[in-house]
Amino acid sequence: AAIKERTPIIWLHMAECTGCSESFLRTREPDIATLIFEQVSLTYHDTLMMASGERVEKHLDEAIQRYKGKYICIIEGAIPTKDGGIYLRVGSKGETGLERAKRVTKDAKVNLAFGTCAAFGGVQAAHPNPTGAKGVHDALGIEIVNVPGCPPNSVNMVGTLLHILLFDKIPPLDLLYRPLWAYGSRIHDYCERRAHFDAGEFVEEWGDEGAKKGWCLYKMGCKGPLTYNNCSRYRFNQGTNWPIGAGHGCIGCSEPNFWDTMAPFEEP
Ligand code: SF4
Ligand code: SF4
Ligand code: F3S
Repeated sequence: AAIKERTPIIWLHMAECTGCSESFLRTREPDIATLIFEQVSLTYHDTLMMASGERVEKHLDEAIQRYKGKYICIIEGAIPTKDGGIYLRVGSKGETGLERAKRVTKDAKVNLAFGTCAAFGGVQAAHPNPTGAKGVHDALGIEIVNVPGCPPNSVNMVGTLLHILLFDKIPPLDLLYRPLWAYGSRIHDYCERRAHFDAGEFVEEWGDEGAKKGWCLYKMGCKGPLTYNNCSRYRFNQGTNWPIGAGHGCIGCSEPNFWDTMAPFEEP
């Protein structure tokens, strides 16, 4: 299959840190230039656009009209919902994030939530969640494809996007609307330290002999046995490394409410 025409992408930023965009930019195959100049049309993206202010507001309005039913909406960041959503305002018109997300997702062909913030609320939704931040599905009640991770690997974001473009349908999902091809197995299932787990060889203290030998980080708080993601198969930053490869346990960053449910991230 080949991509026949460049599908417009409207990428919205809600309450977030832009780490997901940073990860997206580091895509290797295809690289970001090939992706956005040959395969998709990145029509709107707050942090990558040159323009700002009223000009981009007009551009967004026109893009929604022109590409109604044809564009893919990507949301990065959680949506504050408390008190009508007043804790996030975006753009020169003072629109709330909640209003903007409703307006743009309504006419999209497909809606994607990139990152744990957009999928499940992320750090904004951690206790006590003062802004009532929620993931897109919970905030808007719409159909969504979640690509969580804090941030997700570009492989997961670009792979999901290209699957939709090539096959004109969303990939099979799990119960949390995550693509099974990326989130169908646990970090622990393919971890490079797994043989040490099976052999009972554990790091017992930061910097000990086991740490130097690359033994299993389970006793140091690794959440790989509870976390569905493919980091143990696809490293980050164009294949450079990943959390466990760098010597720290997985903190469960692609799971809902991991800030509250997976902590403490380090033991003892
Ligand atoms: Fe940043 Fe993580 Fe949220 Fe992405 S999911 S915007 S990396 S806090
Ligand atoms: Fe499992 Fe974590 Fe040990 Fe890897 S380091 S084998 S994911 S417990
Ligand atoms: Fe996140 Fe664990 Fe991968 S912390 S980046 S899911 S190894």
